[in-house]
Amino acid sequence: MKKFLLPILGAILVVGMATIVWASVIGTPHDLAPEPCAMCHTPHHATGEYPLWNRTQADQTYILYESYTFDMGPTGVRPPAGELWSPSSLCLVCHNGVFSQLVNYPGPCSPADSAYDLIVRGCAELGTDLTNDHPIAFVYDDTKDVDGNLFPPAAPNPKNPSRYEIVGAFSTTPYFLYGGDGTVDGKAFECATCHSVHDLANYPGKGDYQVYFLRNDNTGSLMCRDCHTAR
Ligand code: HEC
Ligand code: HEC
Ligand code: HEC
Ligand code: HEC
Repeated sequence: MKKFLLPILGAILVVGMATIVWASVIGTPHDLAPEPCAMCHTPHHATGEYPLWNRTQADQTYILYESYTFDMGPTGVRPPAGELWSPSSLCLVCHNGVFSQLVNYPGPCSPADSAYDLIVRGCAELGTDLTNDHPIAFVYDDTKDVDGNLFPPAAPNPKNPSRYEIVGAFSTTPYFLYGGDGTVDGKAFECATCHSVHDLANYPGKGDYQVYFLRNDNTGSLMCRDCHTAR
């Protein structure tokens, strides 16, 4: 018996390491340049927005989702903006279909290189009218829903005490909530609640990255049901 234990442990370790290697932005559709991190972040001369943001465009306004049964918003919630509480604007700077520029180009101090400018077209372009998209940029509060979706309550994020997460009712996947600067109590529901931009999760059997950067496999609409428990 003991003879087998070591090879098995070794195999588990190798599989584990392979997962760590691939759980990254490298090799995904967000691997956009020879220095892929630089397409979104820079160590110096950033825009001043969290987290060391490296991409800019003229101020954008968005039309947010609204409906008679949308109970958690949008009243009192600010539109997506590039601040600690709302990473959605960071996604939208590329996904709104408007020209965006890199701030600090990799390499020696040099004139701006338009090779790094970007407009996303096609399916991945959401536009600036977000009324036909799942609601974002609102404060998650399951007690406000009066339509019987039976949303799970927000739970404190064990790794980040200033923020909360929604623990998926079926999969137990943590869907992260944002903010935590005191203004929105770390319960802001954003693009990154459903998507993992760096593809941090481990998705066994799904190849190098989870399709659409989703936080979970959505087969059987598992993700939707994780939150809309009674639907
Ligand atoms: C396509 C854009 C994009 C690329 C490429 C990207 N990031 Fe990010 N990064 C984001 C966004 C958006 C956030 C904020 C949302 C979040 O934390 O989920 C973020 C947050 C972060 C944070 C702060 C939160 C955390 O997770 O610790 C760090 C650190 C970070 N990125 C490092 C990196 C590094 C290192 C790379 C390259 C290997 C990289 N990022 C590539 C978009 C990007
Ligand atoms: C630097 C610009 C940039 C930023 C910032 C950015 N993206 Fe993207 N994203 C892209 C590009 C370019 C593609 C590839 C589009 C294509 O293939 O048509 C893409 C593709 C995607 C896709 C489709 C992936 C697939 O499997 O086909 C999703 C989903 C996505 N992004 C979500 C996000 C989210 C969520 C954020 C913020 C947390 C974000 N993106 C931030 C540029 C960006
Ligand atoms: C409630 C969860 C949820 C939220 C919030 C969310 N998405 Fe998605 N997104 C999805 C799912 C699920 C898919 C896959 C849809 C499909 O299979 O057609 C997707 C697909 C995408 C795609 C690929 C679209 C395509 O047809 O190729 C992009 C790009 C994207 N999301 C960006 C964003 C951005 C940017 C935000 C914030 C403004 C956002 N998402 C917010 C769940 C979400
Ligand atoms: C991380 C949790 C979460 C996930 C995952 C999620 N939703 Fe939602 N969804 C919400 C919340 C919270 C609301 C706002 C509900 C409210 O205030 O009435 C919402 C709103 C909606 C609405 C608008 C409801 C209205 O009253 O106007 C629809 C439709 C919807 N979601 C469908 C989906 C579908 C389809 C999926 C899967 C692709 C999905 N959701 C994934 C949490 C989630």
